[in-house]
Amino acid sequence: MNIGIDKIGFAMPNYYLDIKDLAENRGIEPDKFTKGLMQLEMSVAPRTQDIVTLGAAAALEILDDEDKQLIDMIIVGSETGIDQSKAASVFIHSLLAIQPFARSIEIKQACYGATAGLEMARNHIKNRPNSRVLVIASDIAKYGVKSGGESTQGAGSVAMLIKKDPKIAILNNDNVYQTRDLMDFWRPNYSIYPYVDGKFSTQLYLDCLTTTWNQYLKTNNKDIEDFKAICFHLPFPKLGLKGLNSILPEDVNNDTKETLNKNFNNSIIYSQKVGNIYTGSLFLSLLSLIEQSNTLKAGDNIALYSYGSGAVCEIFSLTLVKGFKENVKENRLEKDFSTRTRLSVAEYEDIFFKTIEVDNDGNAIFETNNDKMPFKLEKIENHKRIYVKNNK
Ligand code: CAA
Repeated sequence: MNIGIDKIGFAMPNYYLDIKDLAENRGIEPDKFTKGLMQLEMSVAPRTQDIVTLGAAAALEILDDEDKQLIDMIIVGSETGIDQSKAASVFIHSLLAIQPFARSIEIKQACYGATAGLEMARNHIKNRPNSRVLVIASDIAKYGVKSGGESTQGAGSVAMLIKKDPKIAILNNDNVYQTRDLMDFWRPNYSIYPYVDGKFSTQLYLDCLTTTWNQYLKTNNKDIEDFKAICFHLPFPKLGLKGLNSILPEDVNNDTKETLNKNFNNSIIYSQKVGNIYTGSLFLSLLSLIEQSNTLKAGDNIALYSYGSGAVCEIFSLTLVKGFKENVKENRLEKDFSTRTRLSVAEYEDIFFKTIEVDNDGNAIFETNNDKMPFKLEKIENHKRIYVKNNK
């Protein structure tokens, strides 16, 4: 049975910061960000947007009524959860009006969680071929004003509908994974921002990639020439490029090298404008590749490198199916990206870093009139988050 991605959707907040404005304001040469990190813009989430509202919006883009009747599992991968106990997927299940006999859970392992979710979805459908599983990767990457990672922040969510006979790509069940207990990036419960050993984290990302890649090729008896594209977890696009260069053999033929480089450039277009979205970043790279490449065809194989600090990583592959291009969005750059509002640095600092403060009774009400996203956090009442559907 072929199981894989039937639909893929994306949502980001309506605000963004131009990375050159950030560089200038911080007294940094803009080329450091635009060339050194290959980052151009960053999505900025207001307080009324979180992993629930963004995740629900990404799913809303793809689900129809039949999906909502057949989905029996919702998995959210996130490392910026809004509750230590209740899963974001329970809120999303309700906002999307999915039929009641569904399982809703949240998976955490840094940026890797949604990859585990995909594998769980595949196994679930293997046992229940008529089911559909909604896998959502949703995060808000926030390091703090003037922090070392400030230029690599972002916010957004990718939603994937997993089912048998998928219309976009088959999951090939060739996964190879690795765990190393190391501290490159982590966020203790008492801290709103992560701690990061930046340089070490980039080295670990690359070392986990090369060792897992070699093991993947060996286990599956594959070669880099079997792939038309490789998608990477993209904390910032330049790290993905370093990753690609680190696994390209010296004697690789020129056609393969050119195809992989060209498709790499297609795969980073959205991330360059969104920034890091942790669990969603690998899948945003896949979405960008599929929507922006004009050369990919049915039957082409794509390898994916998932990396979650701490660290767990995984390499697996997808095969595109006939008609995949008709099942993704056209003109996302014009329709979604170019309609966002550009913020000044002062506005970004105000909007992105405004914290939620509840009164003694656990209440907080937000100004939501400017929020045009499909779902928004309206208030906190007696310590309970109250989400509403935007009627505008
Ligand atoms: N023109 C062109 N390039 C320039 C430049 C200029 N004027 N000035 C600097 N550069 C280049 C540098 O040469 C460097 O490129 P190379 O790495 O190719 O040499 C690049 O710009 C970045 O410069 P620095 O390394 O000096 O930058 P930094 O000290 O500010 O640190 C960082 C960069 C470590 C990534 C930091 O942004 C950070 O800590 N980010 C958060 C952590 C992170 O994203 N880690 C990634 C791996 S962990 C992971 O994947 C999980 C996750 O999502 C968080």
